[in-house]
Amino acid sequence: MAATRTANAIPATLIPGDGIGPEIVSAAVEILDALGAPFAWDVQPGGMAAIEKFGDPLPQSLLDSIRRTRLALKGPLTTPVGGGFRSVNVRLREEFKLYANLRPARTLIPGGRYEDIDLVLVRENLEGLYVGFEHYIPIGDDPQAAAISSGVNTRAGSRRIAEFAFDYAVKNRRKKVTIVHKANVLKALTGIFLETAREVAKRYEGRVAADERIVDACAMQLVLDPWRFDVIVTTNLFGDILSDEIAGLVGGLGMAPGANIGEEAAIFEAVHGSAPDIAGQGVANPLALLLAAAMMLDHVGRLDEATRLRAAIDAVLREDRVRTADLGGKATTKDMTQAIVARLR
Ligand code: NAI
Ligand code: MG
Repeated sequence: MAATRTANAIPATLIPGDGIGPEIVSAAVEILDALGAPFAWDVQPGGMAAIEKFGDPLPQSLLDSIRRTRLALKGPLTTPVGGGFRSVNVRLREEFKLYANLRPARTLIPGGRYEDIDLVLVRENLEGLYVGFEHYIPIGDDPQAAAISSGVNTRAGSRRIAEFAFDYAVKNRRKKVTIVHKANVLKALTGIFLETAREVAKRYEGRVAADERIVDACAMQLVLDPWRFDVIVTTNLFGDILSDEIAGLVGGLGMAPGANIGEEAAIFEAVHGSAPDIAGQGVANPLALLLAAAMMLDHVGRLDEATRLRAAIDAVLREDRVRTADLGGKATTKDMTQAIVARLR
C-alpha cells in the first residue's frame, strides 16, 4: 500500500467484517490505492471473526484502534442470533458518541423511477424517541395494559446536529438545508429541535439557505418532487424512516452508503449486511462500501479524490456497463474492481 509510506498518510481503522465483508473491503482497498487515497490502514477483526479470536464481536483491540485513528471503514458485521450479544452498531454509536448519521442518496444508474436524485439526510443518532425510556402500566389484571415511551431531545444535542448539517452543507458545496420536524403536535420534543435548528440556520444566512417541513408533508414531497431537497436534517425516528425512503428513490438499500460521525470518531460503511447467501462466491457488489469510502474522503477534506472516485463509479456503471448480478449484470467483484481501477488511471 503506497499510501502508508507517505508522510501525510491518514491513519484509519479497517474492519473487513463478516460474510461478503472481506471481499468488498479488499476491493475497496485496491481501488483506494489506485486512487492514491491517503489512508494508512490498521486492519482489525470484528464480528464473527473477532468472536472466534476474542469472544467478543467488538474486541478491545478494535475499540482502541478507532480511539487512536478516530476514523474507520467498516465491512458488515453479522450479529449473532442468541448468545446475548448486543448490536455492535449500537455499541459503536454509544462508545464513540456518534451523534450524526449521514445517508446520501444519488442516482447511479439512469432509467430508474427518478433521474438525477442527489440529496443527503442528516439524522440525529443518540436522542429522541430512541433513548429507550419505555415501560408498561398495569391496569386491572392486564400487566401491560398501557405502554409509555419518553423521547429526549436536548438543546445541546439539537444544536450539535444542526451545526453538523450546516457545516456539512458548506464543506460539500450544498445550497440548502431543510429542517424536518413535527413541532405542530410534539410541541416540546420536536419544538426544541426546530427552534434550536432555526437559530443555527440564522448563523449560516448568506452561505447556506434554510427551510422547514413538517415530517409527513416532507415524506410526501420526497415522492412527488424530490429535487426540491438538498440536505435534510431531522431527529432520530424521523431520520430513520426518511433515510430509507430516500434510498428507495434511487433503487433501494443495495448501493446505499452511510456514515456515523461523532466528536470522537467517524465510521463509514455500507448500509447492507454481510449477505451470507452469496459470501465467498466473488459476486458481491462493492459499490455501497466504495461510496462510503468516498464519504470518508469527503470527511477528511479530500474532496477532489472523492469526486474522482464517484466519477469512476459512474463511468463504469453508465458507460462501461459493468454491473454485478444484483444490478442485473454478470460482472464479478473482481471485474467491477478492475473496471473502476482502469477508470482511475
Ligand atoms: P443483507 O443486507 O446482508 O442481505 C439482504 C440481501 O441483499 C441478500 O440477498 C444479499 O445477498 C443481498 N446483498 C446485500 N449486500 C449485497 C452486495 N453488496 N452485493 C450483492 N448483494 C447484496 O441483510 P440480511 O440478510 O438481513 O443480514 C445478514 C447479516 O448482516 C445479519 O447478521 C445482519 O445482522 C447483518 N447486518 C449487518 C449490518 C452492518 O454491519 N451494518 C447491516 C445490516 C445487516
Ligand atoms: Mg433504519
